[in-house]
Amino acid sequence: MSTPGPTDPPIRFGVIGLGFGRCHAKVLSTLPGARLVAVADLDPEAQGIDLEPWAARLGARGHRDGLRMIAEEELDAVVVAVPPAARRRIVEAAGERGLAVFLEKPFAVDDAHAEEMTALFDRFPGMPVMMDFCLRHLPAVRRLRELLDGPLGEGLVVNADLVLPRDDSPSWVWDTAVGNGIVNENTCHLLDTLCCLLGEPVAVQAAGGSFLGSPLEDGVAVTLRFASGAAAVLTGGALGAQALRTPAALSVYTRHGQARLTGHDHMFGDLEWATADSADPERESWPLPGRGEISAAALAHFVAALRAGTAPAPGRDAGVLAVRIAMAVRAALTSGATVKI
Ligand SMILES: NC(=O)c1ccc[n+]([C@@H]2O[C@H](COP(=O)([O-])OP(=O)(O)OC[C@H]3O[C@@H](n4cnc5c(N)ncnc54)[C@H](O)[C@@H]3O)[C@@H](O)[C@H]2O)c1
Repeated sequence: MSTPGPTDPPIRFGVIGLGFGRCHAKVLSTLPGARLVAVADLDPEAQGIDLEPWAARLGARGHRDGLRMIAEEELDAVVVAVPPAARRRIVEAAGERGLAVFLEKPFAVDDAHAEEMTALFDRFPGMPVMMDFCLRHLPAVRRLRELLDGPLGEGLVVNADLVLPRDDSPSWVWDTAVGNGIVNENTCHLLDTLCCLLGEPVAVQAAGGSFLGSPLEDGVAVTLRFASGAAAVLTGGALGAQALRTPAALSVYTRHGQARLTGHDHMFGDLEWATADSADPERESWPLPGRGEISAAALAHFVAALRAGTAPAPGRDAGVLAVRIAMAVRAALTSGATVKI
């Protein structure tokens, strides 16, 4: 397939769920190669959104029901930004209309649900699906991935930290039938980033618990072992202080050197690295995306892949894997044992 040029028709999007999804809608309303056609939310008032004028300001039509939006609008792709338990019928409707899907993390509530969702997606084998693991699309993370394939050599030992502020999570996150905890719902970003950098994980050990009286674990210290022999320790959960703006940090010791990613607002923007024999470190920085634009690079990749006819990444396998690790962390916390993934 030839590479599309600027005159090729844009990818027509609908966005379902206007909590975090409102950020996607805003990004898509100006993203080259994309056109925001419609948005949907069952209860926009609860999100503080006056639906019709809000949608019109983005050049889109407003719907309440996402299924109706899929049935009535001419779309190529849909952003599914509703909590994981509410997606089955949306994915089914999208598949039946031949739409591509940009799917919010987490992929599923738990392993059984991940299997159900996998079987559902399997009914639509040609359907392009991308998980919104937006951290791996940040330029600093992409550059680190490149360095691991180049002068730094493979990652051996990692220390990583990404902990949300304590009062940042919607209440459904703590419901075992909807979000199933902050590790599944948010630390999954770090789990995916580690898999992107280190490959296939094979075993988990974990300590932590519910320190602030949350219904499920709200702070975890996790050790992950990878098929390559690499090891990672990470802290996750929701114990942070708002004023520190969710600092993000990841140190990796590699075959030929060392690198450190840092940032804030739940994103990585700065990278320092050196090979074992270099006299001075390299320092590279990228401006962090603006408020609500954390997924802009991921969406740009999705649009570019659809226009080029290639598979967007990460696909749903990465989503299934992150759920599997999150559930293994829970099992390791409960049993105190090492849990195979
Ligand atoms: N990638 C990220 O960094 C990031 C950040 C925040 C949230 N998220 C993910 O986005 C998803 C949504 O989270 P949220 O915080 O926006 O939740 P939310 O509860 O604030 O919003 C979800 C919205 O979806 C709507 N909805 C549900 N079913 C619908 C349907 N069939 N049709 C139309 N609207 C429907 C609800 O009315 C609600 O307004 C979650 O999976 C969450 O993990 C990702």
